[in-house]
Amino acid sequence: MKRILFVDDEQLVLDGLRRMLRPMRREWEMFFVDSGEEALQFLDQTACDVIVSDMRMPGMSGLELLDRVREKHPETIRLALSGHADAEMLLESVKATHQFLSKPCDAETLRVTIDRALGLRGLLQHENIGFLISRIQSLPSLPSLYEEIVREINDSKGSIHRIGEIISRDLGMTSKILQLVNSSFFGLARHVSSPAQAAGLLGLNTIRSLVLTTKVFSQFDLKDSGLNPENLWRHSSLTGSLSRKIAAAEQLDRKSQDEALMAGMLHDVGKLVLANGLPGEFREVMKRADETENPHWLVEQDVFGCTHAEVGAYLMGIWGLPNTIVEALAYHHYPSHGAVRGFSSLSAVHVANELIKHPQASEEELCEHLDMDYLQRLGCGNKLGEWIEMSRNLLDGGEPEDG
Ligand SMILES: [Fe+2]
Ligand SMILES: [Fe+2]
Repeated sequence: MKRILFVDDEQLVLDGLRRMLRPMRREWEMFFVDSGEEALQFLDQTACDVIVSDMRMPGMSGLELLDRVREKHPETIRLALSGHADAEMLLESVKATHQFLSKPCDAETLRVTIDRALGLRGLLQHENIGFLISRIQSLPSLPSLYEEIVREINDSKGSIHRIGEIISRDLGMTSKILQLVNSSFFGLARHVSSPAQAAGLLGLNTIRSLVLTTKVFSQFDLKDSGLNPENLWRHSSLTGSLSRKIAAAEQLDRKSQDEALMAGMLHDVGKLVLANGLPGEFREVMKRADETENPHWLVEQDVFGCTHAEVGAYLMGIWGLPNTIVEALAYHHYPSHGAVRGFSSLSAVHVANELIKHPQASEEELCEHLDMDYLQRLGCGNKLGEWIEMSRNLLDGGEPEDG
């Protein structure tokens, strides 16, 4: 049984949580206290897997509490439940907190978030990542435009037309999305002239991934880091597109295909975070990777103590993206570390990333870049030729796919 501790100064909120989470009592042992002081005392007696704390409390604030918990009980996962999810406070508390939930929060969201946090435990507690993240001053928050679109998609009355309208308000993003949609990446047979039309042709989940990636890419200033955003954007969108094609060829369901696209597009997002947050060191990493011909991520491991893969996954975890995406980001270089057995969006992203990175490589050379043991275990050892073909088609602007 997992132990979860809830902290809120308002008795009514605690009673509400207790009632709401009653159905979970077979899986979770739950405790409720009404102050930070009491929470710390409790944790000294009873180790908990997760603490969920209100942020605004008289006396010890939630932030202070979670900070203390981080020091004294680093193994406990810390979730902030906040009625005022203002960006500034989120940034301030990012060091102390693993994930945020905004109030009011329904039972299902709470259950999923806690389960996900438990699932990502290994990653969130990677010993160097907390330290690295705390050195990065400007960890961005989830783009509000993306949130708006997700809300619209989840709304039963949400429409393609409305989503097109929301996207159209942002001119820079509209032109970037149309450029991508009209390029060979999607292989659409006709010219697309509006975001609504793109959403109609590609589906809402695809357009949602495009919005998030475009927004994320435009959010960072990379001037001082030497990282070329255009190259990374091209690499990322090609990887996303190929990941989806591979996922489709492996007969993953539609949802997993969409996830493969999103994870492929975002797989290197940690590079943006590092290049923006620690430009000098990032420049050094690129130089050393160039000189030694070692993979970029291996040098990162050396310089930062972890890689862009974990940093990207960490950020997506904080933003509340699905576990599958977070996993695919975290393990795209060494997929056998992932928890999922069977062919998943992680497998697709791992393969697509290497194929796009080495467009000229022979099958033999690619075997050196790919985790072949892992692919063999999945029964995919003989698929490489087929995938290379798909990748070449994509890079040559090959045949259009249907839909
Ligand atoms: Fe990468
Ligand atoms: Fe990559």
